[in-house]
Amino acid sequence: MPTDNAAVKLSAELSEESPLCEIYSQYPFEIARGEGVYVYDTNGKRYIDLYGGHAVSSIGHCPKTVLEAIQKQGSELMFYSNLARVPIRVRAAQKLIDYAANGLTKAFFCNSGGEANENAIKIAIKITGRAKVASFSGSFHGRTLLAITATDHPDWHEYLQPRVDPIVQLAPNEEADLAKIDASVACVILEPIQSIGGVTEFRADYLKKLRAACDNAGAMLIFDEVQTGIGRTGVPFVSGHCGVTPEMMTLAKGLAGGFPIGAVVMSKEVAAALQTGDIAATFGGGPLAMAAMEATLDHIARNNLARNARDIESYVRQRFSEPSIKEHITEVRGRGCLLGLVLNVPSKPIQQELFKRGIITGPNANQKLVHLLPPLTVERGHIDQLHDALRMILEVERV
Ligand SMILES: Cc1ncc(COP(=O)(O)O)c(C=O)c1O
Repeated sequence: MPTDNAAVKLSAELSEESPLCEIYSQYPFEIARGEGVYVYDTNGKRYIDLYGGHAVSSIGHCPKTVLEAIQKQGSELMFYSNLARVPIRVRAAQKLIDYAANGLTKAFFCNSGGEANENAIKIAIKITGRAKVASFSGSFHGRTLLAITATDHPDWHEYLQPRVDPIVQLAPNEEADLAKIDASVACVILEPIQSIGGVTEFRADYLKKLRAACDNAGAMLIFDEVQTGIGRTGVPFVSGHCGVTPEMMTLAKGLAGGFPIGAVVMSKEVAAALQTGDIAATFGGGPLAMAAMEATLDHIARNNLARNARDIESYVRQRFSEPSIKEHITEVRGRGCLLGLVLNVPSKPIQQELFKRGIITGPNANQKLVHLLPPLTVERGHIDQLHDALRMILEVERV
């Protein structure tokens, strides 16, 4: 914990003009350290982190098991590129595939969610020879711009020609839109639960029809599981566990317990269509990320955190339907530890009040939604504290 002097010094430093691009709206406090479900600000105040640094702290902050794995791996081999076989890379990839148990059996590693999606889309364009990408209104898949198209090395992007056409937009769960998936579409990409866009779920029967529409058109299906993966929704991955298996699923966020990582996990057939050099990433599958992922997956599986996520969801649904608070909550959305509490008032001022009471929740495109993406280790007691704080704040707001 920082001393008072350290906290004062840090505050003074940050109140001067920042050397960082000021492009993020930020919390009204500075975070100094984290432990489990909690983070502590520079004044030593403790917060329950029900946002998990945007779903990244999958097994809590500073998880001991991940720290130990990184330290051990770092003392043996901190980095070597994919030109060399490195045992930890193969072992960790197998662990991911075994945990997924959904028929997707080949992994490509990169460093972020955007990069994973970019690569998955490139793979679909290559295999289908088509240029159109379909995605959904309300979706979020990252910030890259098919960077390779701007790279002057034709061998690596000729297969993307002609350049990607404008996106074909579909509406979630709207069956009439499935007709837009025609023989010009390379792939359809979706978050099985749209997270930042409003915690919008896809119906299981719709996903089956979407799968059939892709099959009929010869288009590939990509599940962006950057947020929904590794047990967060109560199953290892939505892919294959919702009755539909996509050709590829993309992962990032909490996959390595807070260490940067991205992955495209694909079917054997998709992997077989790739050739040496088609996709690559210098740091992808780096030994430290692999050790962190292995430790994270071990921890999730050993402690059955997917089951805990299911328990947390049902507890949230139970507590927020109690008469004392029900009138303020119009809907509880989502699955497992990816949830949205829809309020009957704008959520931002309420979330500012929650900060004051030591509880962090997340923003959302839906201005009335309190977004919950806690570590999968979150306990019922933390939900009780959220419930009590929200009830008190909402009672006051009502006047
Ligand atoms: C569903 C989803 N896909 C992709 C991304 C992009 O991930 P990254 O910021 O690691 O590039 C995000 C980030 O929030 C996301 O929520």
